[in-house]
Amino acid sequence: MRVLVIGSGAREHALVVALRRDPAVRAVCAAPGNPGIAQQADVRPVDPTSAESVVALATEFKADLVVIGPEVPLVLGIADAVRSAGIACFGPSAAAARIEGSKAFAKDVMGAAGVCTARSEIVDHPGELDAALDRFGPTWVVKDDGLAAGKGVVVTADRSAARDHGAELLEQGHPVLLESFLDGPEVSLFCLVDGETVVPLLPAQDHKRIGDGDTGPNTGGMGAYTPLPWLPAESVAEIVDTVVKPVAAEMAQRDVPFSGLLYAGLAMGQAGPAVVEFNCRFGDPETQAVLALLDSPLGALLHATATGTLARAEAPRWKDGAAITVVLSAENYPGRPRTGDVITGADTVEPDTEVLHGGTAQRADGALISAGGRVLNVVATGADLSEARARAYARIAGIKLPGGHYRTDIGLAAAEARISLPARV
Ligand code: GLY
Repeated sequence: MRVLVIGSGAREHALVVALRRDPAVRAVCAAPGNPGIAQQADVRPVDPTSAESVVALATEFKADLVVIGPEVPLVLGIADAVRSAGIACFGPSAAAARIEGSKAFAKDVMGAAGVCTARSEIVDHPGELDAALDRFGPTWVVKDDGLAAGKGVVVTADRSAARDHGAELLEQGHPVLLESFLDGPEVSLFCLVDGETVVPLLPAQDHKRIGDGDTGPNTGGMGAYTPLPWLPAESVAEIVDTVVKPVAAEMAQRDVPFSGLLYAGLAMGQAGPAVVEFNCRFGDPETQAVLALLDSPLGALLHATATGTLARAEAPRWKDGAAITVVLSAENYPGRPRTGDVITGADTVEPDTEVLHGGTAQRADGALISAGGRVLNVVATGADLSEARARAYARIAGIKLPGGHYRTDIGLAAAEARISLPARV
């Protein structure tokens, strides 16, 4: 199998690494990729949002499968264009990608499917904001209604901070989504979905805030771990049966069947799992940890999903132990990150750890430099979460990036058994 991966982040780097482990995958190409991906795949400077360019590259590369990593190309219909060219594609149609691209669509599908989620209201006019805020909070959840790479969300008990964020979004011409706050530990469950067949991967937990102890602004994700020692085994089946399958069935019934990776972001509250958000693609940085424990050929799973044969595919197998991702981000991230800083210490090879590239570039003199907010990910595995954490933090300490920062508590509360599910009511 020849596989073309679309995207340029650490998630796509993890996909490339896992595809390279699949003996049935003979060649991997990535577009546009990054310097880390370039060590493992052919990379091409192709615009992932140009259907014409992606199809031309897939054709030239003789791809048997195209895997689209980020949400923006999916929302723009790149998967539709690839499929129209007769090439199998892992990723939903533009119509189905609205489960992430339009929060109003997602809420409508969830409502029709009877799936538990937060109460919400869309505000599109500044004059409506104050009255709408009065109908919510505290705690206020104020979201950009469009795609915002995780950074459009403010969750706060401070009404004026909630108001300022809403007003700023409206000023930029973005409708605002207000939601009731969902309590309970968060779970990211990624499911391979082809129509109504749903195959869950290992549950993971993201750490969205910039600072230790879940402080500071939201980011695209500062780290993740899997599996979740505090989540009973039957919870995954409950989420599949009460959340993911009803949504997949509702989308199929509306003639917008989902094909690809359906990511359910959930809060495990007193009433059971409730949906915080759906995404139409692999999550970042959870994927990096989840794929580190995958013990099955990834190419076969993605190809089966893309070709509607998931029901006949072998279920994914998982290695024992735990995996963790720690994100090294640039000076000033999640604000406007400083770029162009030289990175050293990222290329040594150590057992049970991997350094995946996110926002990196190669300078003309060959130096590796920062080129985005989330610069590198250190992924480590271990017999348990404490061992995986120790390895990841030892490895990241050896990487130098001026102004670089990372959270020191990824997976810590779980490793110390400080997370538990609330009693059901
Ligand atoms: N982990 C958050 C996201 O991928 O959107």
